[in-house]
Amino acid sequence: QDLLEKELPDAEVFVVSNREPYIHNRVGDRIVVQRPASGLVSALEPVMRACGGVWVAHGSGSADRETVDAEDHVAVPPGKPAYRLRRVWISDEEQEGYYYGLANEGLWPLCHLAYVRPIFREADWQHYVAVNQRFADAVVREATRPDPVIMVQDYHFALLPRMIREQLPKATILTFWHIPWPNAEAFGICPWKEEIIAGLLGSTVLGFHTQAHCNNFFETVDRFMESRIDRDHRSVVFGGEETMVRPYPISIEWPPAALASQQPVEVCRAAVRERFGLPAEMRIGVGIERFDYTKGILDRLQAIDELLTRQPEWKGRFTFLQIVAPTRSKLASYTALQAEAIRITEEVNARHGREGYQPIHLVIRHHEPDEVYELFRAADVCVVSSLHDGMNLVAKEFVAARDDEQGALVLSRFAGASSELSEALIINPYDVQGMAEALGRALVMREDEQRERMRLMRAHVRERNVYRWAGQILLDASRLRKRQRVQEFE
Ligand code: G6P
Repeated sequence: QDLLEKELPDAEVFVVSNREPYIHNRVGDRIVVQRPASGLVSALEPVMRACGGVWVAHGSGSADRETVDAEDHVAVPPGKPAYRLRRVWISDEEQEGYYYGLANEGLWPLCHLAYVRPIFREADWQHYVAVNQRFADAVVREATRPDPVIMVQDYHFALLPRMIREQLPKATILTFWHIPWPNAEAFGICPWKEEIIAGLLGSTVLGFHTQAHCNNFFETVDRFMESRIDRDHRSVVFGGEETMVRPYPISIEWPPAALASQQPVEVCRAAVRERFGLPAEMRIGVGIERFDYTKGILDRLQAIDELLTRQPEWKGRFTFLQIVAPTRSKLASYTALQAEAIRITEEVNARHGREGYQPIHLVIRHHEPDEVYELFRAADVCVVSSLHDGMNLVAKEFVAARDDEQGALVLSRFAGASSELSEALIINPYDVQGMAEALGRALVMREDEQRERMRLMRAHVRERNVYRWAGQILLDASRLRKRQRVQEFE
């Protein structure tokens, strides 16, 4: 907030994302507010609580329309008007094309190298363009000044920066791509690559999680667009306008709000053991994420099988709690994953389980942040085995949840988080044998080693928290605005 006032005085701030920060669902005659399972929301929501402003998102809950007031605005978080939520409505048909189709069957597998074939349909593209335009118009209608600060989020809105720029040429548009950017060859299969890149280059600043993703983006621009790339300034000039392209590793709030209501670790352990019917000496592993094929869940279940096969002494002494939030369940690639995960779980449980011992508990339901933090605090080891992941905030949340400085983190080298949390046990999720070894090693890690590793990781996340992430983007934007003003004198 201070930085905003200093660097971008009187700024009118907008965030635009597909996911809304609070979903309003009707349960019987009550409206229940739910926090969606989304790294984007976990990161952005605390920033908006600090900055205020308007969050423009797709209204998706079953009771969303009922909670709308006359101007279509809701104060959030519920009851505390820190910022306002402006919902944009789209039809079921548009949702099929824009969200399920182009965004999640096209761009998601295009950008994540998880060997799921992207699907591109012309009709989906048309919906994607139309919905992007709808959001651009909503932002422009909301803006009361010609130069708002607009933070555009993710692959649902690649066209939005240019669409907003056309109507508000003085806007400061800060776009953040929350998923990886693949190399030029991989991106090149997208039939609308030029339109997508030109859309993104309507931004003032374009952020990725890592330098590697920025390099891939430069390479893609170089291959497909008439533009000037200035690697010293880390920027692209396209159509006479400059876009800064930089890495901003996203993070979480510190201290996390969900930690405040947590009981001591021993109490959390006892509660989780009781819930799952686990004896006191049982060691606990956890995996918590959306049920997504990029997360390497099947490989992880196989690694547990491998561990129990190679080190049978863990049978009856180690249980894995795999918590998955259903997501994008209409899509074939997601239903196939769910069926396969259930099949492997049953197989592993039949092979290694016995009366009173279930090696894997697969729990398929949404968990609120309080429940997630309790599970993290109850765990001896947390496994993040993404096949490809922009950042992965689960890894950072596990570290943040452990104020007792205990617990081991097994982390995929293909998650952006691995370049920051180097004290985790870094694994290749495609190497099931290696993952099983890391799990075994985590389970026997001495307390002092856990503490040393956890301390370093906690210090890193504490310092590189999400306020710093947002601050760095705003600072770069303000520098660029000043530089452009000087250039106008020349
Ligand atoms: C990833 C994306 C987010 C998205 C989240 C949840 O983290 O980068 O943009 O919100 O997944 O996915 P969903 O499709 O449920 O919004």
